[in-house]
Amino acid sequence: MKDNAAEIPRITVRGERFRLYLDEDTIQHRIQELGEAISRDYPDEPPILIGVLNGAFMFLADLMRAITVDCEVDFLKLSSYGAAKVSSGKVYELKKIDANIENRHVIVVEDIVDTGLSMQYILDRLQAYNPRSVRVATFLHKYEATRVPLPLDYVGFRIPNLFVIGYGLDYGQLGRNLRSIYIMDEPLSDGQESGSK
Ligand code: IMP
Ligand code: MG
Repeated sequence: MKDNAAEIPRITVRGERFRLYLDEDTIQHRIQELGEAISRDYPDEPPILIGVLNGAFMFLADLMRAITVDCEVDFLKLSSYGAAKVSSGKVYELKKIDANIENRHVIVVEDIVDTGLSMQYILDRLQAYNPRSVRVATFLHKYEATRVPLPLDYVGFRIPNLFVIGYGLDYGQLGRNLRSIYIMDEPLSDGQESGSK
């Protein structure tokens, strides 16, 4: 990325300005590293990757192709925080996993850990199925916003507490198809949603 602020690519989505934050090459390079780490960590038993819909689909697709050992995939979907002005932190499952994960090595794959409340809920739910192990792979971690202790085993990028879009992440459902991550210059003002799943 160029140093000169004027040359940083900017886009507008739903009337909000975003600037380029992580470009495609940077993202893909980091995902290769995560794939190599996961491949080293699971030499014997194929792990099952559980993607959290909707946001994680793009990261999951690239991460899975960067993994060189056998692995399986399944999905779950959580409710959105909806139109609430402030994140309620109250989530529930819209789609449960189909796979039987009893005695399996599970890797939960998320687009972003923000407050961490969604991930905490997912980890609690998965324990009920008696998996052999559970690890977390998250593409982004807004570490200053995270309110609960979480084991984050594979983290793509630690980012500041600012709203981001692209690479699966949306602003009002738009922006998911962007190949790069774009960041809002200012925190979202009160009254705007902090994001949807
Ligand atoms: P948490 O429960 O606060 O950790 O929020 C997790 C979910 O909120 C993520 O899976 C995203 O769907 C959404 N989210 C949080 N921050 C952002 C963001 O900056 N952009 C887009 N979606 C976000
Ligand atoms: Mg999500």
